[in-house]
Amino acid sequence: MAPSNIAFIKYWGKKDDRLRLPTNGSVSVNLSNLSTTTTVEFVRHLRTDQIEVNGVAVDDMNSRIGKHLDRIRQLFKTDLRAKVVSKNNFPTASGLASSASGFAALTLAAVKSIGLDLSERQISSLARQGSGSACRSIPDGFVEWREGNDDSSSYAESIFPAGHWDLSIVVCLFSDSPKKTLTTAGQNLAFTSPFFLTRLKKINDKIFTIKKLIEKRSFDEFGQLIEHEALELHAIMLTSTPPLIYWSPETVKLMKLIQELREDKGVPVYFTIDAGAHMHLICETGSLKKVISFLGRQDFIKQTIINKPFSGARVINQHLF
Ligand code: PMV
Repeated sequence: MAPSNIAFIKYWGKKDDRLRLPTNGSVSVNLSNLSTTTTVEFVRHLRTDQIEVNGVAVDDMNSRIGKHLDRIRQLFKTDLRAKVVSKNNFPTASGLASSASGFAALTLAAVKSIGLDLSERQISSLARQGSGSACRSIPDGFVEWREGNDDSSSYAESIFPAGHWDLSIVVCLFSDSPKKTLTTAGQNLAFTSPFFLTRLKKINDKIFTIKKLIEKRSFDEFGQLIEHEALELHAIMLTSTPPLIYWSPETVKLMKLIQELREDKGVPVYFTIDAGAHMHLICETGSLKKVISFLGRQDFIKQTIINKPFSGARVINQHLF
């Protein structure tokens, strides 16, 4: 079982496409209410992998999941095929990215099932090759992914346990339709933005600062930095060729409402946005009631999912077959 995570300082752009080495480090927190459970068994008589995700069979033998199993087979020096059943606990067609929790859960389950004895760092590196942000769903709580410069030096580590800061992360969904440009394709466009190199010049300072603000639990400065970071990420996306416009009218509407809620009503809550239209609102749990009651009055929001900082991927006893 592995949680999804939301990045405060984002991963966008790769310096090595095959290994999924990012152009910069990133910092995130694991989410308690968005997770994937996966069961893997390597079986002697199977001729091909049998993969089922959210009740649907994945037939494509070159699927990302199949390729990830190949990496694990290579490490274990086996050609045994696997039965894989995977389920998300959040609405599948919501447009919420499931690759972080999905590849983290698949990596841990496959590694344990085949009997590989790997460290947390090695499991995180391996998960990274399935989907970059998946490496951050392996360690506990607040997590930093160091960009590294080869396969073994690019992994994520816990920087603070989940209990370090009582934050609430409210995911706001506006529509049921999945996003059109997958992050893997979007990531490859980062260098086409004229602002991308400018972003990279300051990124290590941002990472240093966010870690200090998390350590001190300085909420307002932290919130301002994560909002700035989300808008900077989208400035890169909007100015890529071709442009990536992930926002919907509802995204912009909620951004403005959140700024007003803060300025007019003094409620300390900030937003961040990934490669999609939905938003993650972040507040200290003391302010959650006010945030929820405000969101309850906004009928353009289809669904909200409340999360706390959470532990990383772990083996559980409830298997899916
Ligand atoms: O891991 P991917 O390829 O789905 O990329 C994730 C990219 C963002 O969600 C936009 C940012 C991040 O760091 O999670």
